[in-house]
Amino acid sequence: MVETPRDILPSFMPDRTSPTPIFEQICAAFRERIRSGALRERARLPATRALAQDLGIARATVVTSYDQLVAEGYLAARRGSGYSVCAMGDVELTPPRTSVSAGDGRERPAMLLAAGQPDMRLFPHRAWAKCVARLCRTRPEDMLIGCGRFGHSELRQAIAAHVRDWRGIDARPEQVLVTSGATEALDICLHALAAPGSTVGVEDPGYPLIRLFAERQGRRVRDLSLDSQGAEVPDPGEETGVVVLTPSHQFPLGGAMSAGRRQAFVLWAAQRQGWIIEDDYDSEFRYAGRPIPAMASVDGLGRTVYIGSFSKIFSNSLRLGYVVAPEGQVAALSQAMRLRGARASAMPQAALAEFMLRGEFYRHLRRVRRLYAERHRHLIEHLRTEFADIGHVVDHQAGMQVVLHLAPHLSDVRITKAARQAGIGVEALSEFCRSALVRGEASNGLVLGACLNDPEEQKAALARLRAVISSTE
Ligand SMILES: Cc1ncc(COP(=O)(O)O)c(C=O)c1O
Repeated sequence: MVETPRDILPSFMPDRTSPTPIFEQICAAFRERIRSGALRERARLPATRALAQDLGIARATVVTSYDQLVAEGYLAARRGSGYSVCAMGDVELTPPRTSVSAGDGRERPAMLLAAGQPDMRLFPHRAWAKCVARLCRTRPEDMLIGCGRFGHSELRQAIAAHVRDWRGIDARPEQVLVTSGATEALDICLHALAAPGSTVGVEDPGYPLIRLFAERQGRRVRDLSLDSQGAEVPDPGEETGVVVLTPSHQFPLGGAMSAGRRQAFVLWAAQRQGWIIEDDYDSEFRYAGRPIPAMASVDGLGRTVYIGSFSKIFSNSLRLGYVVAPEGQVAALSQAMRLRGARASAMPQAALAEFMLRGEFYRHLRRVRRLYAERHRHLIEHLRTEFADIGHVVDHQAGMQVVLHLAPHLSDVRITKAARQAGIGVEALSEFCRSALVRGEASNGLVLGACLNDPEEQKAALARLRAVISSTE
């Protein structure tokens, strides 16, 4: 049954004098009602127009709120039947603490549409050079010897501020460990948190290096299959004691884990005394609504270790990432860094700290986000119009890649091989998958990079890809 606006938010009135935007006030009111159980699973929400009229606000404001809640996993949107409340699990949690052209033609990666690749032509060379020059002039020693084993102190401060403002994670700079990328951070976390011979849960499909690291370190791997809400939660009675998740943006399929599933994982970790490693490799690239709260903010860094990266914002070759650890795990993670011989290069750290503290980082982030949003939209539109006869895409309005799910008569492996010969770096979905089915569909698809090429380049690359596909049919 569709609830009336007054049933659904009985005492809510927008506060126009508050500094919090009205759409965020609406989101907060819904989150509170859903978490407290006042709005039950599958309850249908009033139409956006009816709620807007009742509250005396613009319909677009209600649409923005609903879209944000869908992205956060509180609501589900179904074409033609409006919005309804998602399953939330039984856990009562504290609310998340969110406070919440292409240039000069140099450095061209060879492969078009390569997944996960930022466009290096957008690297902010001039602003970066200014930061480096300033440091060399004023504090040259900082570039060489001013960096501790676990990161430059100013960079750790800047990262702590970044994750607080963007991801709602409250941590002191001492809880931040700088690594040479999220990949190294994953290796360190597995080493510190999963005992030899223990079992680690990894998403299927997922980032292949996680499985590789776990196996190399002598840990067993348990595949966590995915459904529309996210990864499956292991039973607390099972052996699995550590899980590695991409809750903000599943890799490589896309889509955010539902709020209910996130809560179920937090409950699992509390009951099992297990650990969640949250791989938040590209969360800065959400193109609609506000950032989705990190899992680490939902459980207040209780049993979640958070991993971030600068690879997607700047360059895969900068090789800087970080771990934000619960207080009680800093020593174990630091020790794992020592034992694994992990250490991020000192030189770029001082420059990056300067870059962040002067606001250049956020200027750059705004710019690439705008361009990537345009490219992402263009790629989806083009696939929907020109490739509809051979596959379909789901638009998650986030991330750096898009999956084209292929019709059964096509083979993703055969196509990607032929595409490489034609200079196109798309990847086969099946190569990320252990199971033949993902979210109820055959694991047969192409993972296409949405950010590397501008719309004109995309158009040309997609025409070439289409010809490659025809040649393999
Ligand atoms: C899911 C996932 N995690 C981690 C990484 C690694 O990031 P980094 O380049 O910082 O090592 C990637 C890289 O594409 C990724 O896709």
